[in-house]
Amino acid sequence: MQNLIHKLAASHSLEIQEYEFLIKNRNDEAAKLLRKLADKTRREIYGTDVYVRGLIEISNICCNDCLYCGIRRSNTNCERYRLTPEQILSCADEGYELGFRTFVLQGGEDSFFTDDVLGGIVREIKSHHSDCAVTLSMGERSFESYKFLRECGADRYLLRHETADKEHYSKLHPASMSFENRIQCLYELRSLGYQVGCGFMVESPFQTEKNLAQDLKFIEEFKPDMCGIGPFIPHKETPFKNFPAGTVELTCYLLSIIRLIHPPVLLPATTALGTIHPTGRELGIMSGANVVMPNLSPVNVRKKYELYDNKICTGEESAQCRGCLSNRMKKIGYEIVTARGDVKS
Ligand code: SAM
Ligand code: FES
Repeated sequence: MQNLIHKLAASHSLEIQEYEFLIKNRNDEAAKLLRKLADKTRREIYGTDVYVRGLIEISNICCNDCLYCGIRRSNTNCERYRLTPEQILSCADEGYELGFRTFVLQGGEDSFFTDDVLGGIVREIKSHHSDCAVTLSMGERSFESYKFLRECGADRYLLRHETADKEHYSKLHPASMSFENRIQCLYELRSLGYQVGCGFMVESPFQTEKNLAQDLKFIEEFKPDMCGIGPFIPHKETPFKNFPAGTVELTCYLLSIIRLIHPPVLLPATTALGTIHPTGRELGIMSGANVVMPNLSPVNVRKKYELYDNKICTGEESAQCRGCLSNRMKKIGYEIVTARGDVKS
């Protein structure tokens, strides 16, 4: 194990079978060594800075039916909402005052957000706040759509690949969704000059250790600018309601490995990690993550963007969220900074 970990830290690459071995045979000692090396690697590039992204959940209306997701189309018990362009802009203005320099617009695949509507919102945010980055996380769209949104000023795009194994993908998604299209979207986004983020859920239903090894190999090859990983957490109104949630232990272990695979990657300690453990986000940062994404959505819609049960931070005002995370980071020796926080090479 020790040799493999040192090999990974030195070469940023392992065979799939070696990644699988690292996952299957994990123990406290290996986790500690990975954490130490990942923290050192991150400090060499980013110091103790933690980048902050203001997450605006613009709509929970979705035409997709991902089996794990609380806002899937088939969930008829979900109270649907959509923010108006004006509401989105005012969230961004409020966020700017609080020191955010990146806004992430995330939502279901909602046909209201045509290219013209979404592009118009991106343009407005960029014209009000030219020193900010706009990240989109609006699912699968056409090449032309991604191109247009890029021309409107979008800088980054988050689209988790969800799993790098086609068969596993088909167990998490309806037949109407395709693994090939998801991956193709990621390559198209990259070709258009976006900073691109992929990612996956840890311990999602039917996921094997081999699948996780495939995810790591995909990350090694794709070299994403950002990588969102968080534990799967069941939602009571989905077909996966009886599956267990992922663990903080495996999520943090994988965060450390991903930092070593691709040292400059922007790696968030996700809200899902904070949901399964009271100090999950702190543990994520200590394992090699360097981004947090507090919520900037209006308080009255937060509970409705419920991807999984018991999601945290659904009652706080934006300023409270930002303040709370600042304090949490300070306590463990890291600092939230006011910066666009682009990927470093
Ligand atoms: N519609 C966009 C898309 O498909 O990329 C963005 C919204 S989607 C809700 C954002 C991410 O939430 C997904 O990529 C998925 O990994 C995560 N997610 C959904 N349901 C989850 C669950 N039950 N537990 C943990 N993460 C979940
Ligand atoms: Fe569309 Fe989850 S199924 S956002």
